[in-house]
Amino acid sequence: MANQVYDCLLWFIFAMSVAGFAGSFFYVTPYGRFKKAGNEWTLPSLPGWLVMEFPCLLAFALTYWLLGEHRLATVPLLLWGIWQAHYIYRSIIFPLRMRDRGKRMPMGAVAFGFVFNSINGFLNGYAVSTLAPHLLDTSWLLTPWFITGAVLMVVGVSINIHADTVLRNLRQPGETGYKIPHGGLYRWISVPNYFGEIIEWTGWALLSCTPAGLSFAVFSFANLFPRALAHHRWYRKTFPDYPPQRKAIIPGVI
Ligand SMILES: NC(=O)c1ccc[n+]([C@@H]2O[C@H](COP(=O)([O-])OP(=O)(O)OC[C@H]3O[C@@H](n4cnc5c(N)ncnc54)[C@H](OP(=O)(O)O)[C@@H]3O)[C@@H](O)[C@H]2O)c1
Repeated sequence: MANQVYDCLLWFIFAMSVAGFAGSFFYVTPYGRFKKAGNEWTLPSLPGWLVMEFPCLLAFALTYWLLGEHRLATVPLLLWGIWQAHYIYRSIIFPLRMRDRGKRMPMGAVAFGFVFNSINGFLNGYAVSTLAPHLLDTSWLLTPWFITGAVLMVVGVSINIHADTVLRNLRQPGETGYKIPHGGLYRWISVPNYFGEIIEWTGWALLSCTPAGLSFAVFSFANLFPRALAHHRWYRKTFPDYPPQRKAIIPGVI
């Protein structure tokens, strides 16, 4: 039964990624700088991030420990730890570090995040703990898949956290406006936090080598790449002195 649910949800995420990618060129999810005035259905950003992201941590953990056939094997345990570490950062530490806690998030975005993250947590938790026989032998840790994936994850996380830190430091306490970010990868691209996030989940797809890992990498790209282009257009339109050589999301390319 769990296998059938897994298959259905997996295809649902791939289909949603393709549809979302196509749709994102016509519609930008209205949060952050694209939030529409007059949207009354909002939540404060701290509980908003928690409600949106915590299900990913919880769904993975519940699936892993309640359904996982190989939950005590070394490599699946390691992957569980990596996943939890990311989602403790994303759902708790990241929103706690935000300067402007008075900001609000649209309920629609939070509801979508809640549903997607619940599915994504289940898919990856189930894949890693039950459907991946290649993870049962610790020799997996010495394969090019794992080593390349681990390096990409570390590089991606470092880029993402550094880029988000630059953004956070742009505002003084109480400020809510936008400024031009500088330093690090901002020298070359407008949205390095998204670039780092895509690299990170590509790394996860490689080091876990499961269809669920791939689906999350594809979803992250489909979601963040078009949004990065929208950020880039917005920066160029908003700031006449925006660095002209800066690309959107891939240094030197686009
Ligand atoms: N895996 C995925 O599919 C996925 C999806 C979404 C997000 N994420 C990750 O979640 C994190 C946050 O995402 P996000 O979409 O909220 O990123 P974002 O739009 O870059 O905003 C991040 C934070 O920085 C502030 N900010 C952005 N640009 C600024 C500027 N020029 N001047 C001053 N402040 C600025 C934003 O304030 P405002 O809120 O006022 O705009 C927000 O508090 C990122 O690390 C992203 O990679 C991952």
